[in-house]
Amino acid sequence: MKKIILGVSGCIAAYKSAVILRLLQAQDFEIFPVMTQSAQKFLTPLTLEKLSGHSVIAGLFQERSPAIEHIEVARRSDLLLVAPATANILAKFAHGIADDFLSTLYLSTVTPTVVAPAMNVEMWRHPATQHNLELLRDRDVLVVEPGSGYLACGEVGEGRLAEPEEVVQAVVDVLKRPRTLRGMRVLVSAGPTIEDIDPVRYISNRSSGKMGYTIAREAQDRGAQVRLVSGPTHLEPAEGLEVVRVRSSKEMTAAVLESFESSDIVVMAAAVSDFSPEYTFEEKIKKAESKEETLRLRRTTDVLEELGRRKRKGQYLVGFSAESEKIREHARIKIGQKRLDLIVANDISHDDRGFQSDRNQVVFIDSAGNEEEFPVQSKDEVARNLWEKIEGELSIRPVAVA
Ligand code: CTP
Repeated sequence: MKKIILGVSGCIAAYKSAVILRLLQAQDFEIFPVMTQSAQKFLTPLTLEKLSGHSVIAGLFQERSPAIEHIEVARRSDLLLVAPATANILAKFAHGIADDFLSTLYLSTVTPTVVAPAMNVEMWRHPATQHNLELLRDRDVLVVEPGSGYLACGEVGEGRLAEPEEVVQAVVDVLKRPRTLRGMRVLVSAGPTIEDIDPVRYISNRSSGKMGYTIAREAQDRGAQVRLVSGPTHLEPAEGLEVVRVRSSKEMTAAVLESFESSDIVVMAAAVSDFSPEYTFEEKIKKAESKEETLRLRRTTDVLEELGRRKRKGQYLVGFSAESEKIREHARIKIGQKRLDLIVANDISHDDRGFQSDRNQVVFIDSAGNEEEFPVQSKDEVARNLWEKIEGELSIRPVAVA
């Protein structure tokens, strides 16, 4: 049975922690309640004690033996949930202040943490609170966004504790996540590049970046530390992703090469331009000046080929192959040429998949020549299959959430 520490901080929504506790028990979790001093002004510890069957830990200096017992339980717990989480406790977590039991516990916990904030709308919107939440999200703390509605202070707006069912669902989802890529550093490139001709004209391609962004998010969900090098796109990267934005193939090359050394797995999903104008005009080219214009193009660096040359033992390299014909044949040439471990070949000849679409049809070909073909799928599914394939190749076994 999974053990969850339910931290309750002091606000009017504290009474809802009893409902959350019950719903968590219904999911077969064992609950260990922790209350801050101010939470006890809103809800008696006896309530949570009777419901959970465990004494409530409240102060750092409570009688010694049960406190030690609870610390032991904390270390062996599977998840820390704080619901409701006040602006104060979020600030303490964000800045590592440990002046009561709950904040001290957070600092000593290595398990996933979920917080469900509840506070007045102005406190919620305050830049200090929003900054603290950002810090926590960067640290992989899951924030269950508060709802909007009538607040205890009489105002209307965001800040209401999320529905207990939603909080419990977030806990279930976090515990279900396969954290198979924990400790791995993953580099993903995505999107097109833009090669400027003059201040208004450029050469680019139809890549939307969706495939690369989805692959990066999936790796992050699996616990990897992900850096996304992105060409110009309209996409919002997932919360917590480290994003390096680039424009040209030259910038893409520099950013990817710089991160390569410290990466364990690299997925080049970007559509890097193969050619760039030999010369970028500083002023707009005027049509009056000539009847004809020839644009001379130069080959750009093949980033992936360069990575293949630099690859050291233990690094895993994945490329994409965008083809409109002889898909497998061309992909097989690229896998050898660029010294790849895996290539994802996709057919770009249909409008309903590939470029600018939410769907894709791919074939995986590994360095041993094994092929795996998939039907048309959502890019989410492609990303999941890709990481499963990579994990299989690297013999990463699913591990329980620690
Ligand atoms: N790629 C790269 N640098 C380039 C061009 C491509 O790193 N200058 C990478 C892409 O990110 C992709 C793989 O190489 O992972 C294959 O790209 P693709 O456009 O399919 O093929 P190319 O190698 O460019 O060859 P061609 O255009 O002739 O098919």
